[in-house]
Amino acid sequence: MSEQEPGKITVPSLSAKKAAGERIAVLTAYDFPSARILDESGVDIILVGDSLGMVVLGYENTIPVTMDDMLHHTKAVVRAVKRALVIGDMPYGSFHTSVEGAIRNAIRFLKEAGAGGVKIEGASPERLEIVEALVGAEVPVMGHVGLTPQSIRRLGQYKVKGTVPEEARRIVRGAMDLERAGAFAVVLESIPLEIAREVTARLRIPTIGIGAGPYCDGQVLVFHDVMGFATGYLPKFVRKYADLHGILRRAVGEYVADVRKGVFPDDAASYHLRPEDVGRVLRGLGFAKGAGKSRKGRKRA
Ligand code: KIV
Repeated sequence: MSEQEPGKITVPSLSAKKAAGERIAVLTAYDFPSARILDESGVDIILVGDSLGMVVLGYENTIPVTMDDMLHHTKAVVRAVKRALVIGDMPYGSFHTSVEGAIRNAIRFLKEAGAGGVKIEGASPERLEIVEALVGAEVPVMGHVGLTPQSIRRLGQYKVKGTVPEEARRIVRGAMDLERAGAFAVVLESIPLEIAREVTARLRIPTIGIGAGPYCDGQVLVFHDVMGFATGYLPKFVRKYADLHGILRRAVGEYVADVRKGVFPDDAASYHLRPEDVGRVLRGLGFAKGAGKSRKGRKRA
């Protein structure tokens, strides 16, 4: 499907969806097979989130995730996707040192990985300057306010944001500033639904909620949470649509048992010499007669 093809999700088509009252479905993905499933299932935006650090790479938070990690996984996702808009998440450190550095890294998502845009956390004056510069460099930007996981070292813990007037005001103002700076959508993470509703009503660009209630223009969740890979604590906003951990544990357990019992592989899953070749090929191995016995017949040293 080319960029022009009807049905292909583009940045302008998202605001049109908001105007038409059509909700936007977003999920994260980090690899080819899951991205293909999401795309085939009609997900509008596939976010290659830096949640990659926790759910795929096994880190405790998103801080260690690098540009190389993000580009590697974004490329895999892009290869699988025909319809959805793929957004690459700018990892911690990739836009924190200079505007020029941020532009250079964001452009890598588009040029090297083939993403359709990037996401950036925060709406401080420094962040807004970066968003404006990126949009000026033709990079579509998705903003992200409320709980911003890359701030974990400063925040100390992940908790709901915007529950007091000062913080709520900062979130609403931040989202509006991001729209003014040229962002094409804003993620609202872990905020009360009353605040999310207020933001959504004030913006022309779509809001994409995660733990922000039902009044957002779209919803995003982490693929591994939704599919039930996680076994520990999950925030209450996650809805599990499958128990892949359980399904895969059972399947892998069956495989291990089959291998141990010697019932996998069976004859049907094995290659054979043609009957007329058996003697010639085995003789051609050049071993003495009696060598190459079956496993059961093999002598111990
Ligand atoms: O990294 C991520 O997956 C995200 C979404 C959860 C919004 O930022």
